[in-house]
Formats: sequence, structure tokens, C-alpha cells
Amino acid sequence: MIKGGRPLHGEVRVSGAKNAALPLLAATILSPGPHRLSNVPRLRDIDTLRILLEQLGAEVEINGDEVRVSCPKIKSHRAPYELVKTMRASVLVLGPLLARTGRAMVSLPGGCAIGTRPIDQHLKGLKALGASISLRHGYIYARARGALRGTVICFDVPTVTGTENVLMAATLAEGETVLKNAACEPEVVELARALNGMGARIVGAGTEEIRVQGVESLGPMDHRVGPDRIEAGTFMVAAAITRGEIRIRECPLEWMEAVVSKLKEAGVEISKEGDLVRVAARWRPEPVDLKTRPYPGFPTDMQAQMMALLSLAKGTSVITETVFEDRFMHVAELRRMGAQIQLQGPSAVVKGVPKLTGAPVMATDLRASASLILAGLAAEGITEVSRIYHLDRGYEKLEEKLSSLGAEIKRVR
Ligand code: EPU
Repeated sequence: MIKGGRPLHGEVRVSGAKNAALPLLAATILSPGPHRLSNVPRLRDIDTLRILLEQLGAEVEINGDEVRVSCPKIKSHRAPYELVKTMRASVLVLGPLLARTGRAMVSLPGGCAIGTRPIDQHLKGLKALGASISLRHGYIYARARGALRGTVICFDVPTVTGTENVLMAATLAEGETVLKNAACEPEVVELARALNGMGARIVGAGTEEIRVQGVESLGPMDHRVGPDRIEAGTFMVAAAITRGEIRIRECPLEWMEAVVSKLKEAGVEISKEGDLVRVAARWRPEPVDLKTRPYPGFPTDMQAQMMALLSLAKGTSVITETVFEDRFMHVAELRRMGAQIQLQGPSAVVKGVPKLTGAPVMATDLRASASLILAGLAAEGITEVSRIYHLDRGYEKLEEKLSSLGAEIKRVR
């Protein structure tokens, strides 16, 4: 429940990145360990992956933001439907399982609220490394006779978890693997850095061509998860939409150029102040056109939040989603709050209105729920966002952090 209309003020710290922590945790099964990860956010998706790792035979201990994993022996090769359907990123165990044991059985993820989301590129990469792959009864069966073999793989589309999956598998392959048209996201760079810390030999992560020299085995991982650029962007929009002024600690500005430049175009003030990033807005935003793109383009994971902000702009903005074909479920909900948004194919035409009004709305996915909360912070009256379990998958204590900035927001059962 949110009572809107309060400008946010104060300081907030960004948690570790969900989309960095998930592949890092999946990578722990590449070796016996013991592994130590710090700054891991407390999120439902992390709990889901923990359950999966334990089912595979890992011992996982969570203490505050520290996670210790050891995996002396793989006891199961199966990622069951029950877990994969609650979190698609479970598919990240496919590459590591196959590389370490030559065998994996992972439920095929279905469609989800933002699109069909195929994983053909993950499978294409693993096949090229020599795995045989078959699909039966909703499961992917992957087998490798002997070690995987390095080769050149050219992805048809840059895919974040696909690049991560194949990269992890390639660390233990024989010889050199070259990944072309690889995803350049900071989370891929972070995974490569952590893998190199375990003894892998990866160069080029962060560019479209990654080269991996296979090694026979990997050692323990000891890594601090970097801050979440999407959470940081969500706070920036929270400050802007309430016309407040906040300071963000652990804000990974260097990975946020596309978001920062669009916010600045909209009239939001963003500047570095020592270790902190100051974000302030005084007026209604200027309209801005944007297109989501793979990194370093504007992230699809910030599209819904930006739409909430631009629904209050002084003119019309066009937001085009090019990464996922169906990531506009928040549009109908924002409309219930008075936003004027028309969908035209992959674009949303957002005609700014002077104010939004609170309403009961329903979250449909993680980033959509964040956008509804942001809209609620600015709207007149009470907004009730239901199904916030989506939010708990990817934002650590969001309502507590927003309250500490002066928002009137509480979780009600
Ligand atoms: N695609 C294919 N074939 C594949 C894989 C992807 O056609 O085998 C297509 C997808 O359908 C999509 C595009 O490629 O159109 C990019 O998808 P990608 O594979 O990069 O997405 P992902 O790896 O499944 C990660 C994040 C998402 C984020 C996207 C895009 C994780 C765990 N998830 O997903 O995060 O939206 O990259 O940046 O890293 C979120 O955090 O809310 C979230 C959905």
C-alpha cells in the first residue's frame, strides 16, 4: 500500500546484483570449492537457486549477505520443472553440470510474462562444444562423451544467460572456445572475472568476442557481488518521479550510461558526490524517446520504470521494446492510474499527463511491479499493488529502503 505524493529525500544503498549473483552461484558447481560469495542480495530467486544447488548435491550456507557453497560431489543431474518454472535462470546450471559431469537434465522453461524466451542459443552453444542434446517430456537431456571440445560459436542473437551458460561450460572444455556475438552485459564481465579467479582462462568478456582456453579443473571462488545497476536505476526514477533529492551509495554509474543519459534528457539532475551519486528533480520530466537494446544500450529491465516516469512528462514519449516481444503488461495497469499510453506494435506511445491517481493494480513480473510502485509513489491517493511476490524475486527490501527515504509505503498481508 502506497500513499503517493511525498518527495523522497535521504540516502540509500544499492544491494548486490541479482543477475550477477545467479550465474556466480551456478558457477560454483563447476568445482568442489569451498566457495565464498559476499554482498549477495536476499531475494526469492537466490533462495530458489539455493534449493536447486542443494538438490544437485551442494552444501549451501547463507549468513547475512555471505553465501558459502561446497560441492565435493554432484549427486543429481536434474533441475526439475517445479524450480525452473518459478525461475527461468535455473537453466544456468545446465552448462556447469554438463562440463563437470558430462550429464545434465534440465526442465525446458516455458514462456513467461515478458515473452516466449527460447533457449535455443544455449543449446546451440553446448552442442557445438560436443554435447548431444535431446528434448523429451519437457526436459533437456544433455550428454557429453569425454570432455567438451573447444570450438567457434557464433550466437544468432546476443543472449545474456546463454553467453553465461556456454562460457561456464567452455572453461572446462579441451582447447580454445571462441564465443562470437556474445552478450556484453556487465554481469557477463563479472562472471568471467570470478571464473578467472577460480583458474579459468577467459579474455574478451565485455566485448562481442570472448576467448576461453579450457583448463582441466577449477578451484574455489571468492568473490564480492557488484552492485545492482537496475536497482540503482529504479532509485533514480523514484527520486525523479517524486521530485525529490536522494543520494545513492554503491551506485555503479559506469554501467548505467544509457539510463543516466535518458534521465538527464528528461531533466533529472545526476551527479557524483564523492562515493555517492546525487539524483534530484524539480519539475515534471521532459518527454524522451527510447529503445531498449542489449548492453550498452538502454536495458529492457528499466523500460517499465522509465514508462512510469514518462507517463508524467510534459509531452509525448515513444518507448520501443526490442529485446522482448511482449514486455508491456504494465501498460494496462498504469492506465488504471490515469496514464495515457497507446501500444503500437513494439512501441508504447506515452502521452504525459499532469498527475496519476492511486488505484488497485496488479504486478505481472518483476520490473512491472517496480514500475507500479514508482507510479504509486507519485500518484494522488492510495495505490495498492497486489502479487508483490514478483518484487521479492529481485528487489531486496524495496519497501524498507523507500520508507527510509520518506515514502509512505507498507507491506500488508
Ligand atoms: N533469445 C533467443 N534464444 C536464446 C536466448 C535468448 O532467441 O536461446 C532471445 C530472447 O527471447 C530475447 C533476447 O534473446 O529476445 C535476449 O534474451 P536474453 O537471453 O539475453 O535474456 P535472459 O538471459 O533470459 C537476462 C536477465 C533478464 C534480462 C535479459 C535482457 C538474468 C538472470 N536475466 O535474461 O532479467 O531482462 O537478460 O537483459 O540475467 C529481470 O531481471 O527482470 C530479467 C528479466
